Amino acid sequence: MTLRIGFVGAGWAARQHAASLDGLGEAPPVLVTDFDPGRAEQLARDCGARVGAIEEFAGLDAAVVTTPTGAHAAAILPLLDAGVAVFVEKPLTLTEQDARTVVTAAAEAGVPVAVGYQWRAVPALQTLERELAGQRIALLLSQGIGITQARSWFTDGGLSGGLLGERGSHHLDLLRHLGGPVAEVRAVRGAERVSGEAPVGSEDVLGVTCTHVGGATSTTALVWASQAHLPEQSLRVVSDRGHYLLALDPEFRLTGRTGGRDVQAGGTEVPFVRQLARFLAAIRSGDAADVFCTAEQAAQTVEVVCAAARALDSGTGVGVPNR
Ligand SMILES: NC(=O)c1ccc[n+]([C@@H]2O[C@H](COP(=O)([O-])OP(=O)(O)OC[C@H]3O[C@@H](n4cnc5c(N)ncnc54)[C@H](O)[C@@H]3O)[C@@H](O)[C@H]2O)c1
Repeated sequence: MTLRIGFVGAGWAARQHAASLDGLGEAPPVLVTDFDPGRAEQLARDCGARVGAIEEFAGLDAAVVTTPTGAHAAAILPLLDAGVAVFVEKPLTLTEQDARTVVTAAAEAGVPVAVGYQWRAVPALQTLERELAGQRIALLLSQGIGITQARSWFTDGGLSGGLLGERGSHHLDLLRHLGGPVAEVRAVRGAERVSGEAPVGSEDVLGVTCTHVGGATSTTALVWASQAHLPEQSLRVVSDRGHYLLALDPEFRLTGRTGGRDVQAGGTEVPFVRQLARFLAAIRSGDAADVFCTAEQAAQTVEVVCAAARALDSGTGVGVPNR
């Protein structure tokens, strides 16, 4: 069954998803909308799609939403109202209230909603999860030292979540996914600038520590780096029986040792593509929950990110509601 897919947003992420559709042998998008008509026209021309308004998405099978984060909820809600399945880039929203509104709308629509936390689709993560079954996680330690090409909206607090929302939410999503619900968050902001392009309103260095309800402690250290730095995205897990290192981006590889036994896993599937493939499979199967990251899971991550933002400002531990 050929799926009719529309794109809301025609920037960097949209082009990556268009390439994923092509690589998967899926039909290209049929409809493109963007606030910037030139961008919409360019992507539409490249894909053989037409440019249209969001109201014209009714009747399509799916939409891929890649607007700046602050505009996600306003784009998603009319799509869900029209019964269109939605793949939306991360973070789901900037506020907890918007996230909950989307979760409710997704449940009412009954169509698949997937959120682009592609690290959940890393094949080696599934090996790690199998390894950790029955173990008690003591410490999760992640680091994100990454170069991010500046976008004009990164500096707009109403559209982007800065380093914490843009980069940090990938890590906090993974830490919550493995460590379980978070009870309390603490966070510190580094004073030094290392990015060289210092986005106004966002820091270059952050540390976030979570106390998980089940007993694990997690820490993520984030650096908005520059071309001068060696990028690294990784996660270490120490449990009562093992120690594992998951390399994330550009190579996805698990190494570790448990009970004296070495553990290794890799995988050639690209998680960014794999998450989209599973979303499309969920539309075809009619099983709305069969995606790597549901709206509910992403909303829980929004709650941790928002608690971390409050912790940064207050300098104190901040509780997470865990609805
Ligand atoms: N998963 C990942 O690794 C990853 C990587 C990069 C970006 N992202 C996410 O993807 C989203 C977009 O990022 P990007 O890098 O593509 O940004 P971008 O600036 O390249 O593209 C965003 C596009 O959205 C358009 N736009 C803005 N408001 C709109 C609206 N209301 N309706 C329609 N179009 C609108 C802009 O004109 C622009 O063309 C963000 O949420 C970002 O966090 C995720």
